[in-house]
Amino acid sequence: GLPESVTIWEVGPRDGLQNESAIVPVEAKAEFVERLVAAGLPVVEATSFVHPRWVPQLADSDELVELLVRRQGRDGRRHPVLVPNERGLQRAIDLGCQHVAIFGSATETFAQKNLNRSVDEQLAMFEPTVTRALAEGMDVRAYVSMCFGDPWEGEVPVGQVVRVGRQLLDLGASQLSLGDTIGVGTAGHVTALLDAFNAAGVGDDRLAVHFHDTYGQALANAHAALRHGVRTFDASAGGLGGCPYAESATGNLATEDLVWMLHGLGVATGVDLEALVATSTWMADVLGRPSPSRVVAALAG
Ligand code: HMG
Ligand code: MG
Repeated sequence: GLPESVTIWEVGPRDGLQNESAIVPVEAKAEFVERLVAAGLPVVEATSFVHPRWVPQLADSDELVELLVRRQGRDGRRHPVLVPNERGLQRAIDLGCQHVAIFGSATETFAQKNLNRSVDEQLAMFEPTVTRALAEGMDVRAYVSMCFGDPWEGEVPVGQVVRVGRQLLDLGASQLSLGDTIGVGTAGHVTALLDAFNAAGVGDDRLAVHFHDTYGQALANAHAALRHGVRTFDASAGGLGGCPYAESATGNLATEDLVWMLHGLGVATGVDLEALVATSTWMADVLGRPSPSRVVAALAG
């Protein structure tokens, strides 16, 4: 049967804004995080401590966390941040962050393009990063990207994803988020991948799903994962991320679309949908373009 409640891991400020062409002022980012928290999102991933040349949209990450701490006190340190390596982790430690996420790739091509490393080399980079983070008492999440398809390598074999995913978990991460980075996955593939992880000894309780909506399958995929037993769902307020006018990439599953489906199923999320829609409508104004979310379009006043 379905659970009484699930956890939504909000990634709009990080995965959403990292892909928007507009540069959002740091004050607006802090307000965005605060409004998402106020709307009831239990986890709001705030930013990334990566090289600013690789992701200029998040070049203000130190400043953002400082601002959040100034405005929210200790709670400002609770928001997860992405760190690819020890340099990024040190920045997070210096600011007192308590939750970090590493992000690996299931494919060689994307590992090179995203991290300038091979699949094996990315592990060598993550290993000391996770060891140090755990020694600092931090919680560590791991992402694995290109779990379904890769734009250069095509369909990604399930066994390859399970192998890399297990390696990341074995470093000591508490949870593995399975990323459909380019949004090509379908519900049957989701079920097959989750079955393969379970067969390899990784239960759904250690897994999260992270869908992008390029082919309009993200909600169906989330439903398949929910029915399978997954209880943590990544989503991005308003479906932020990737320009809908560019053909290559679209945003994550919109948090509003996910909440609408879950509440319809009687699965609690703690999210106040009206407050969330108001937040996404406000952010759409900041970005100067409408939200691609159907639920936002339907509910916005
Ligand atoms: P590199 O060029 O190989 O780095 O990049 P390096 O280790 O050779 O160091 C080069 C210079 O960068 C050095 O400076 C380092 O100090 C500096 P120099 O000595 O030359 O002056 N440096 C840093 N500076 C600031 N912060 C750091 C940092 N690290 C090194 N953390 C690196 C390797 C990993 C740094 C680079 O490839 C990078 O930053 N990549 C980030 C890419 C990224 O953020 N992608 C988006 C997130 S992944 C995603 O969105 C997918 C996800 O949503 C799930 C899904 O959808 O599938 C999670
Ligand atoms: Mg993503």
